[in-house]
Amino acid sequence: MDTDQPNLYDSAGHNLEIDKVVEILYELILADENLKDTFKDINIDRQRRMMSKFISNCVGGKKYNQKYMRNSHSKLNLTEKHFETVMDHLITAMQRVGVSSALGVD
Ligand code: HEM
Repeated sequence: MDTDQPNLYDSAGHNLEIDKVVEILYELILADENLKDTFKDINIDRQRRMMSKFISNCVGGKKYNQKYMRNSHSKLNLTEKHFETVMDHLITAMQRVGVSSALGVD
C-alpha cells in the first residue's frame, strides 16, 4: 500500500464511513423493486459485513477473497442492468456520507 495515502482505518481496521455507506446501500437496495426480491432469503447483516470487507479491500484495507464474489453472483442470473443499479445506489450512498472523493468515485 502507498504509504503517502491517508490511513482510512482505525487500529482495529474499522472504517465507520464504509460501514455507513454500506448501511445506506442496503437500505436503497432493499427499497428497490428491481433488486429486493434477490435478497429476500439472504442474511442482510452478513451481507453488510461482506460488502464492507469488499469495499475496504478495494481501498487498501481488509483482505477479501474475490472468489466468493464469483460464487455468490454466478448462480443469481443477474444482468448488466442489475449491476448498474447497485453501482448507482453505491454512488448515492457514498455521496450521502460524503466519502465520494476519498474513495475515488467523483
Ligand atoms: C455492483 C457490484 C456488486 C458488488 C460489489 C457486490 C458485492 C457482494 C459481496 C461482497 C457479497 C458477499 C460474497 C461473500 O459471501 O463473500 C455479495 C453477495 C451477494 N450479492 Fe452482490 N455485489 C454486487 C452486485 C450484486 C447484484 C447486482 C445483486 C443482485 C441484484 C447482488 C446480489 C447478491 C446476493 C443475493 C448475494 C448473497 C449470495 C449468497 O449469500 O448466497 N449483488 N455481493
